[in-house]
Amino acid sequence: MNLIHILPSLLAADVGALAEGCRRAEAAGADEIHLDIMDGHFVPNLSFGPEVVAMAHRTVKLPCNVHLMLDQPHLYVARFMDAGATTLYVHVEPAYDIRATLAVIRKRGVRCGLTLNPETPASAVVPFLGEVDEVLCMTVHPGYGGQSFMAEVLPSIAAVRRAANATGNTGLTLMVDGGINLETAVACAAHGANAFVAGTYLYRMADMAAGIRELRAATGAAFCETP
Ligand code: DX5
Ligand code: ZN
Repeated sequence: MNLIHILPSLLAADVGALAEGCRRAEAAGADEIHLDIMDGHFVPNLSFGPEVVAMAHRTVKLPCNVHLMLDQPHLYVARFMDAGATTLYVHVEPAYDIRATLAVIRKRGVRCGLTLNPETPASAVVPFLGEVDEVLCMTVHPGYGGQSFMAEVLPSIAAVRRAANATGNTGLTLMVDGGINLETAVACAAHGANAFVAGTYLYRMADMAAGIRELRAATGAAFCETP
């Protein structure tokens, strides 16, 4: 597996042509496609359901990276795995049995990840670092694309990477999502992130393939394994 992962976020594609948005990401050399699932409770917006994940799964060969922004993710993980999720992210903030939910995901052979909102301390994921394949640090408040990157999250990204290294999870995929462009991705890579979700930045490009190549090269050069 490549060290650096670039994930276009389908939320920024033309909603009337989501299949085309998936094909465009694949043709441009993306590593995975990122799908945002919102429930109108955990975040103040609604987006895709399992049918959109199923559409992406049958449209492209790219892994489907599914970001559940749900108050009760444990009630829905099975439906998203049935739909073809390759990686399933749940948030650490809501009240549900996180450990049991991660175990259900892993038992199906699906990669599992925990997500932190910008204000949530890195320490919230530390007890789970032995049970996750990935951690996602939100670099905006989740709910909408097109927001500005929050640089105050950078120390948390480094703290998660250091904690993962200390607990022996050195292969942890550490992802960032929100306001990612060339400059902010490089800053995140220097703090230990190796996976980059970008919606507005990549989908607005005339040449997404060139954008992905540039992001991959710059973040690969900036990546710090021990921030
Ligand atoms: C925000 C979503 C993001 C969103 C990112 O709640 O989790 O995945 O699509 O969009 P940009 O890259 O435009 O900030
Ligand atoms: Zn997302």
